[in-house]
Amino acid sequence: MAAVKLADNVYWVGANVHTEDLFEGIWPTPNGVTLNAYVVKGEKTAVIELVREWGGASLTLLQNLKSLGITPHDIDYIVFNHLEPDHTGFTSTLRNLAPKAEILCTQRGAALVDGFYGIKDNVRAVKTGDTLDLGQGKALAFTEIPHVHWPETMVSFERSSGILFSGDAFGSFGAFRGSIFDDEQPTVNKSYWEAEMLRYYASIVATFSPHVLKAIDALKDIDVKMIAPSHGLIWRGCPQAVINKYLRYANYNKDFAEPEVCVVWGSMYGNTEVMLSAVLRGIAGEGVPVKVHRVPNEDASFILADAYRAAGLIIGVPTYEYSMFPPGRYILELFVKKHVWYKKVGFFGSYGWSGGAQKDFDELSKNMHWDILDPLTFRGYPTPELLEKGEQMGVALARQVKEILPKTRDEEY
Ligand code: FEO
Repeated sequence: MAAVKLADNVYWVGANVHTEDLFEGIWPTPNGVTLNAYVVKGEKTAVIELVREWGGASLTLLQNLKSLGITPHDIDYIVFNHLEPDHTGFTSTLRNLAPKAEILCTQRGAALVDGFYGIKDNVRAVKTGDTLDLGQGKALAFTEIPHVHWPETMVSFERSSGILFSGDAFGSFGAFRGSIFDDEQPTVNKSYWEAEMLRYYASIVATFSPHVLKAIDALKDIDVKMIAPSHGLIWRGCPQAVINKYLRYANYNKDFAEPEVCVVWGSMYGNTEVMLSAVLRGIAGEGVPVKVHRVPNEDASFILADAYRAAGLIIGVPTYEYSMFPPGRYILELFVKKHVWYKKVGFFGSYGWSGGAQKDFDELSKNMHWDILDPLTFRGYPTPELLEKGEQMGVALARQVKEILPKTRDEEY
């Protein structure tokens, strides 16, 4: 994808990446992902974020720079808002191509430039309040926003254009579909971006939600006209829309989220699946939106997104070798790690010789701020009486969820 102008002498020079390689080695990107890099030109030239060698991204970056008349030798500064290698993997190569370019990042970031790439020379640590004057009216001001999502994270604000280069904050999975800007998205693309943004947030950022709220507060006095994150859309038409989305997401693990139910289930021989049908009948009768995910068949990131967004959560998995069916346990462990908190929850599952899944469930759910209905575990195939109880579990949970007010608003963009 070719370079795109954001403002006078400010350009996007990143890459759309389409690969079967997993993001962070865990998360699939079936819709691709963007590695956003930017150039700000004054008398001096700064590149903000790089790429990693991934689906041709480093070549794309060099070609985009070349299309603007910039060779690596012309680069004076490389600014890293965040050191994760999806944005910095090209550092060693670029240091060879552009030996005079000074790297700017936070103090903690400098330790990672050394740790990942063995580079100590020509690295400048900056902190909140520091600025970089590029000449010709262009300057970058830095603000640290630690733990969004790594400790060394900062943002860079270009004053003359009002562009906030926000790193992973306000980012999203998903490749561009024709335009990099929010205000050029057709209506049909908006659900795509909402889904990919939420999946990104739940998978990458959710654990650090309190720091997201602190970061948004720290940035509130900056007159932001455009938000340019390191993944996903550039928010030019309505930067407040993405701030509102991130506020909404960050609050999903502070209180009960949207009046919806996410059901996660797995079944070895169909016994737990029979109970699933009864539970779903109960939910459907109450008219509550429901997302249903089978493990291990579906990827965890899609389950995380729907579970994170829903106020209601039902987990139905059998016992396997005296403990929880392993794919279900993995999802539950991710819920713990990603702070999928404050849910109305139901649990059910079949066992053979002995139970064990519920013991794992009880252990993993104890610090999750969950309101849990009476679990429903049973030996073998559920009786008609048990199936009636399962349907009532669905009804009870759906009714609790219906009392929760929707948090979703149409954030216009
Ligand atoms: Fe996109 Fe946390 O790196």
